Amino acid sequence: MSDKISLAIMTREMCHELYKSWENDESIYMDMSLFKPYTYKEKSVNKYFDSKQEPFRRLFAIMLGDKPIGEVQLKSIDQSKKECTLSIHMQNDNFKGKGYGTEAERLAVRYAFDELGMKAVNADTVVKNVRSQHILDKLGFEFIGKEGDFKYYRLENAE
Ligand SMILES: CC(C)(COP(=O)(O)OP(=O)(O)OC[C@H]1O[C@@H](n2cnc3c(N)ncnc32)[C@H](O)[C@@H]1OP(=O)(O)O)[C@@H](O)C(=O)NCCC(=O)NCCS
Repeated sequence: MSDKISLAIMTREMCHELYKSWENDESIYMDMSLFKPYTYKEKSVNKYFDSKQEPFRRLFAIMLGDKPIGEVQLKSIDQSKKECTLSIHMQNDNFKGKGYGTEAERLAVRYAFDELGMKAVNADTVVKNVRSQHILDKLGFEFIGKEGDFKYYRLENAE
C-alpha cells in the first residue's frame, strides 16, 4: 500500500462529502430484499450525522490525504467493562481491495486501546461477509461463535 491513510473525527462537512459518492455494499445484507442502492439526500445525512454524536460512540472518517473514503466507528463504548464494538464501511468500490480497510481497522483498534483505554474490541459480520472475516482474522481477532446470521469476533488488548 503506497498511499497512507489516517482517521479523523468525522465532521458534518466530511460526512456530506463521504455520502455524496456513497454506494451501499451487498456484502452486509443477509436478506437481499432489504438492499437498496444509496441516494444522497442532504437532510438524511444531517440526521445521520446528528444521530451518531453520542458519548458512547466515536465516528471517524477514513482519510486518504484530505479526502474521506470511508467511515469506521467504535460503538457501544463501555467505560466500566472497557470494551467497544468496531464497524466499518468504505465509500464505494473505488476504495476497496487496496488495503485501506485493513489499515483503518488497525488504526481504530489502536485508538480504542491507546486513547480510550479499552481492554477489548468486539466485531460482528454477517455470515456471508468472508472479506470482512478475513481482515478480522488477519488483525488477530478471535472467532467467538456464530448465532443466526452473524459471526462474532473479539480482540483483547495484549499489552
Ligand atoms: C470490509 C471493507 C471495510 C474492507 O476494506 P477493503 O479496503 O476493501 O479491504 P482490504 O483491501 O484492506 O483487504 C481485503 C482483504 O480481504 C481479502 N478478500 C477480498 N475478498 C475476499 C473474499 N471473498 N474472501 C476472502 N478474502 C477476501 C483480500 O484478499 C484482502 O486480504 P489480503 O490483504 O490478505 O490479500 C470494505 O470492503 C467494505 O467497506 N465492505 C463493505 C462494508 C463491510 O463489509 N463492512 C464490514 C461489515 S462487518
